[in-house]
Amino acid sequence: MAKKNVTFFCKECGYEAAGWMGKCPACGQWNTFTEAPSGAAASGKSSRPESPVYKANSFSWTDSAVTVRLGDAGKEHYSRHSTGVACLDGLFGGGITDGSVTLVVGEPGIGKSTILMQLINTFKSDSEILYVSGEESPAQIGMRAQRLGVTRNILICGETRFESIAEQIKEYKPSLCIVDSIQTLYSDEISGTPGSITQTREVTAGIIRIAKTNNISFILVGHITKDGSIAGPKTIEHMVDTVLTFDGDNTGGYRILRSVKNRFGKSNELAFFEMGDKGLRPVESSKALLVAGRPIDSPGSVLTSVLEGNEALICEVQALVAQSCYPNPQRMTSGPDRNRVMMLLAVCDKIFRLNMSSNDCFINVIGGLKISDPASDLAICAAVISSARGVSVRPNTLIIGEVGLSGEIRPVSRIMKRISEAGKLGITTVVIPGSLESSIEKEMSEFMSSGKAASDSLESIVRLYPDNLSEAVDMLFTRAD
Ligand code: TYD
Ligand code: MG
Repeated sequence: MAKKNVTFFCKECGYEAAGWMGKCPACGQWNTFTEAPSGAAASGKSSRPESPVYKANSFSWTDSAVTVRLGDAGKEHYSRHSTGVACLDGLFGGGITDGSVTLVVGEPGIGKSTILMQLINTFKSDSEILYVSGEESPAQIGMRAQRLGVTRNILICGETRFESIAEQIKEYKPSLCIVDSIQTLYSDEISGTPGSITQTREVTAGIIRIAKTNNISFILVGHITKDGSIAGPKTIEHMVDTVLTFDGDNTGGYRILRSVKNRFGKSNELAFFEMGDKGLRPVESSKALLVAGRPIDSPGSVLTSVLEGNEALICEVQALVAQSCYPNPQRMTSGPDRNRVMMLLAVCDKIFRLNMSSNDCFINVIGGLKISDPASDLAICAAVISSARGVSVRPNTLIIGEVGLSGEIRPVSRIMKRISEAGKLGITTVVIPGSLESSIEKEMSEFMSSGKAASDSLESIVRLYPDNLSEAVDMLFTRAD
């Protein structure tokens, strides 16, 4: 579709419009419209026809220009190269696929450049690796590589002009090309400053075409702020094959790398790392989520189990409910979705009269983990009630269940998977939705009779089955002894 004198675009999703708007009609965000760089607007015509990205690559996105039968498609075998780190391979679906384009996004300083530099050293391929850096000089990269103990003699290209980079790629034919970061790249032929939506999108399109036609794997780095307000990476997520996001607390030592999209494997896989003086080191999830070092007998702290990809993670949820000194009480969340928490607060307030209208509430998931699993609802409610009342929950209790608007506890999926690791982490009680009682007890007895190694630790765990929040509170705040 031809663009008409585009002068404004949405910073969130890249939607373009002729005039400024308060709310973006595409993504629904407020106050995200900003003026497009003057060139595109003044010329009043699309920059695309002149773009070398389009001129030089006037073929289709993938290489299959012909129509084929489904039975004949997919016979081509994608070869993969291992990253040399098992948990990273898992994120890519078993190694980096040839000709794939991966986007690694995260806040500045979270460790994107560090992990990629480490990956270079262990990447299992004899051919060249090209590191395109628009952020750091080759000298800086050299120093970092020395500190991280990188011995592989890779090529470094300190260039930000897309056309020059494309020439370098043509000359050296690397098997892997890392671009740090995509926001620093620009093309002469496209209007707009480096990092603008148009530049980022068009340069990425050019990179994808190079990757698909030459079978070169690319890893692109994209910066994103906490609220995702720098839009570049967001707008190119749909174009690339794999998107890895870096979560975790910048100031803490633990980082979580998550595959949010993967065209070559399962998505939502997680890998945990610890930042040390020699870069990022893989760690076990239970260590990263600090389950072992959690406060015991402390009001507002509870444990829950959330499913991430194929893994059930046991993590600590903390709540602080305190008298507010503002006319509008504060609601802050780090980890769970804020709107979900608001709903749970309303349910708790209605049933237990917690006086939330004059109390601030803060919810935090330890380790910087973002959780979206509704099975954590009951744990969030328990943490809030525990903090508001100043009473700690039963010690070493794992709390699982989705909470409905009337305070009923609804069933959750894959409960055995969620509790299977509980015994190893010192859990002595699990709180499970009441509606699952018969199926779980049946499965438990089968599990026990099968004589599996884990069955001993599971057998000794007390299982409680509340049907609603009031019953759960009676069970959770009654000491076992
Ligand atoms: P960096 O990878 O440059 O972050 P990004 O590319 O995502 O912006 O580095 C992140 C932080 O990690 C930086 O503040 C310094 C710290 N760091 C270490 O603690 N140990 C190390 O070995 C390295 C290389 C970095
Ligand atoms: Mg960096």
